[in-house]
Amino acid sequence: MAKINTNYQKLAAGYLFPEIGRRVKLFSEQNPDAKIIRLGIGDVTQPLPSSVIKAGKAAFDEMGVQIKGYGQEKGYLFLREAIAQNEFEPRGVAIDPDDIFVSDGSKCDTGNIQEIFGQECRMAIQDPSYPVYVDTNVMAGRTGKANDHGQYEGLIYLPSTAENGFLADTPKEKADIIYLCFPNNPTGVIATKEELGKWVDYALKNESIILFDAAYVDFLRDDSLPHSIYEIDGAKKCAIEFRSFSKKAGFTGTRCAYTVVPKELMGKDEQGNPVSIKNLWSRRQSTKFNAVSYPIQKAAAACYTDQGKKEIKGLIDYYLANAKIIKEALVKLGFEVYGGVHSPYIWFKTPQGQDSWQFFDTLMTKAHVIGTPGSGFGPCGEGYFRLSAFGDRKEVEEAMKRISALGNHL
Ligand code: MLT
Repeated sequence: MAKINTNYQKLAAGYLFPEIGRRVKLFSEQNPDAKIIRLGIGDVTQPLPSSVIKAGKAAFDEMGVQIKGYGQEKGYLFLREAIAQNEFEPRGVAIDPDDIFVSDGSKCDTGNIQEIFGQECRMAIQDPSYPVYVDTNVMAGRTGKANDHGQYEGLIYLPSTAENGFLADTPKEKADIIYLCFPNNPTGVIATKEELGKWVDYALKNESIILFDAAYVDFLRDDSLPHSIYEIDGAKKCAIEFRSFSKKAGFTGTRCAYTVVPKELMGKDEQGNPVSIKNLWSRRQSTKFNAVSYPIQKAAAACYTDQGKKEIKGLIDYYLANAKIIKEALVKLGFEVYGGVHSPYIWFKTPQGQDSWQFFDTLMTKAHVIGTPGSGFGPCGEGYFRLSAFGDRKEVEEAMKRISALGNHL
């Protein structure tokens, strides 16, 4: 028998969302009449924008006449240029399209990026956070076992708690790599320029690299808030930014994302010589990834047409209105609620001291509503719960009606 990668055995639990799916499946089998409403995983429910569909279909037709084989590994220039012009230029940030790498998802990119860094790098991760950051480092063997609190030995946890407004402090020790996500998943908390500036200062001072996950940037509805880490001076020397069409334009099942790795960003080799991080990522991607298909890249580029922009604004408005409905209902119940503004996630303290999984069961069995237990995002998430605003409006309203009706019985 072949020996397995035993690092996988250190993983304390199954991946969060399949684990939720397993519990929901069991409950539905036992309660076939229950009308379950899913506000757990942040998966979109509204149709793709018509401009996106039209562009994707036209691209398939085009390929019926003139075949396109393997494309440029980092994505077609038409999409990378559209990204630079529409996502960054209006924010006063000049990004070279050559520094943009199109991919099939930010989950893959934020999970794979650690491969290009040394095994001995100290990784700092916000707690709670998107589970991919921790799990991929465990799989890669960069940690020891999890302790009784669920913290893996070797990682630097950055506690984000109600006390610090879910905005973690910079670590006391030196971190080589820092994962940050704003608007934050799962807490829905946003970062100001000052907040991001604090991290860029730390990274420049400590020669660290920030992995900035901006998957939810389109939910920001205040121009004074930073939309990219590159709005902070010096960030190109210390940060990689991840963006996605998943939540922007409903691409969770269509798959398209991109990662910006500025040419200015350097790591060092064994001898301390500077090495281009962009070149390493390019080497990694061209070996292990064969680009996103032409029709999907055409569909993604349609997000930047006038019609596409209008439709996307409508989509995000819709989910933000759901977030408002959820947040208001929870506030009315007297819950301690965070996020839900500039963000599709609503984060709240579980009632009556229930732990996160207990409350998951309470909500599932009493209201037939599915959410995500905060502890699934890290030890500091214990005692909290996340609802997603990506549901269908009628279902969101019905879910909040059921939850409100239960009131103190939750
Ligand atoms: C979430 O629910 O946290 C996200 O939808 C998961 C993901 O984007 O992979």
